[in-house]
Amino acid sequence: MKKAAIERYLACPSCYSTVREEGGMIICSGCGKCFHCEDDIALMTDVHDEDLFSRGKWESNYESWSNLEEEYIRDFHSDLHRQVMEAVVDKGMKVFLELGCGLGFFGEALTREGWVFIGVDISITALRKLKQRLVSRGITDYLLVLGDINHLPIAGECVDLVSGFGVVEHLRQPENALFHVHRVLRLKGVSFNTVPYLNLGNILYRSVMWGSIPNVPVLRQVLTFVNVVLLKGKHMVFGFELQLSESQLRRMHTAAGFQPEDVRIEQYKCKIQLHHVWPEWLRGFARRLSANNRMFWPMVKVIAYRRNKETK
Ligand SMILES: C[S@@+](CC[C@H](N)C(=O)[O-])C[C@H]1O[C@@H](n2cnc3c(N)ncnc32)[C@H](O)[C@@H]1O
Ligand SMILES: [Zn+2]
Repeated sequence: MKKAAIERYLACPSCYSTVREEGGMIICSGCGKCFHCEDDIALMTDVHDEDLFSRGKWESNYESWSNLEEEYIRDFHSDLHRQVMEAVVDKGMKVFLELGCGLGFFGEALTREGWVFIGVDISITALRKLKQRLVSRGITDYLLVLGDINHLPIAGECVDLVSGFGVVEHLRQPENALFHVHRVLRLKGVSFNTVPYLNLGNILYRSVMWGSIPNVPVLRQVLTFVNVVLLKGKHMVFGFELQLSESQLRRMHTAAGFQPEDVRIEQYKCKIQLHHVWPEWLRGFARRLSANNRMFWPMVKVIAYRRNKETK
């Protein structure tokens, strides 16, 4: 892996000091911790207990999933690309960090437009598959990092655009990741996250179909106990997942250091699948409702710009 990129973009996940690369090892200049590289992937994590549950889910999902790229390109890429690029006002921006990049289809597309792609994920299986694909396509402008976004191993103020597409809701405290998003963004940098919206549609669909948890006091605690403790995560297809309201998302962003007037929350416009709704006529009706009524929007996009100099 490229020494210059490691030293420019990575930081220690324990103390956030800068790192240096020596003979394949990544060494923290603050606490002296050493990290390895495996097959060109920087292994920058000490995995914490609370993440093991979700990490196991993601590993087995990525081991079993195949052929996702075709579906992503056909159904999702152009909507996502359009909405992210609408948020990027300064067209000179060129360093992209994807939180929970998984198979990194979006990051790969941005490398073709001249961006450097830094992908961080907790699943080594996803990163290995992504790495193989990038190499097989001759793409070189990337840095792949095994890391926990609760302790994001990225240097301060070095990124122009940070995105998580369906990612921060997988943390018990999404504000942890948002604090790091603000820390790593350059001034005027853009944060773009898509998140399941706390509304009637998601309570009826996501909670029932895959154990997603509405972030409502008491309901959250009860459903977490049922799903995590009693059912041992069997029903949580995507690991721990929250649904978040507009005011919660706004509060989390301002607590992370963004100015309230620099945060925008809007409908995330994309193809709506609702595979589990049956029969066909009911699915068509549910799709129209999800596209047109905010009580049923599946996801919102949260766009925030870093303005002030100080991080909290
Ligand atoms: C819904 S998937 C999104 C994948 C990819 N962004 C996409 O759009 O296809 C969520 C991703 O977040 C990753 N993830 C979950 N918790 C994480 C954590 N604490 N730190 C880093 N990545 C995490 C998962 O491994 C998974 O790849
Ligand atoms: Zn350190």
